[in-house]
Amino acid sequence: MSEKIERVKTGVSGLDDILHGGIPRRNIVLISGGPGTGKTIISQQFLWYGLQNGEPGVYVALEEHPAQIKQNMRQFGWDVSIYEKKNMFDIIDAFTGGIGEYAKKLRYVVPDPTDVGYLSDVLRDAIKDLGAQRPVIDSVSTLYITKPSVARGVIMQLKRVLSGLGVTAFLVSQVSVTERGFGGPGVEHATDGIIRLDLDEVDGELKRSLIIWKMRGTSHSMRRHPFDITDKGIIVYHNKVLKIRRTEVIESSASSEEEV
Ligand SMILES: Nc1ncnc2c1ncn2[C@@H]1O[C@H](COP(=O)(O)OP(=O)(O)O)[C@@H](O)[C@H]1O
Ligand SMILES: [Mg+2]
Repeated sequence: MSEKIERVKTGVSGLDDILHGGIPRRNIVLISGGPGTGKTIISQQFLWYGLQNGEPGVYVALEEHPAQIKQNMRQFGWDVSIYEKKNMFDIIDAFTGGIGEYAKKLRYVVPDPTDVGYLSDVLRDAIKDLGAQRPVIDSVSTLYITKPSVARGVIMQLKRVLSGLGVTAFLVSQVSVTERGFGGPGVEHATDGIIRLDLDEVDGELKRSLIIWKMRGTSHSMRRHPFDITDKGIIVYHNKVLKIRRTEVIESSASSEEEV
């Protein structure tokens, strides 16, 4: 690649290869997929890689308790507590509603997650305080779950905040098991990139794969790549392709990344 754009490495093994070097800096990327496809883990791995390389991050928790998020991350060896102490990482609690002893000790709390204006303000403050370069919102779907018609507007509102701060963000988007879309009308148009994660049942076994559906500012693999979740996080097989034809799935080795 001769282009000289600045790229942000995801740190996810194999993913930077299929992105031809990483995500173009400042892209707002939708991580779209059904339940259990690895959206949360891939986002946490992206954050963790940043922390280890001196890039602060912030995690907006909309679906899980902040304590549970930290506990899950520790299972992969991603202990964020040292970075919290260094003021390089924090969780914005948009889950507990500010209720309980735990929430009282937190610095960033959003009592009502449907108040996107308030959430945007807290997010902006946190990014500025921490100098965060890698924000993750998990998930944006929670922000418009009761009102899908506002989905695109919500994403645009968040994008305006994030773009102004020059960060490279992951927005997690839930889709139902059978949906072929990206979660919410129009959200796919409002983001700079889409990474779609899938689980498909083949011969009684679930197979994981991902595909870069869109990534502004770069060429990328157009293939569906199998991946695994391991004790150390996600490994994408950048030189393998998963072919899905109706219910039949064939895994094969791709000879190269060149498109034919
Ligand atoms: N240590 C692990 N090793 C292998 N797979 C794991 C491990 N921990 C979690 N998983 C898998 O990851 C899935 C959850 O991934 P997650 O990122 O939370 O999904 P979601 O897309 O719903 O956010 C689990 O259903 C399980 O299949
Ligand atoms: Mg999740």
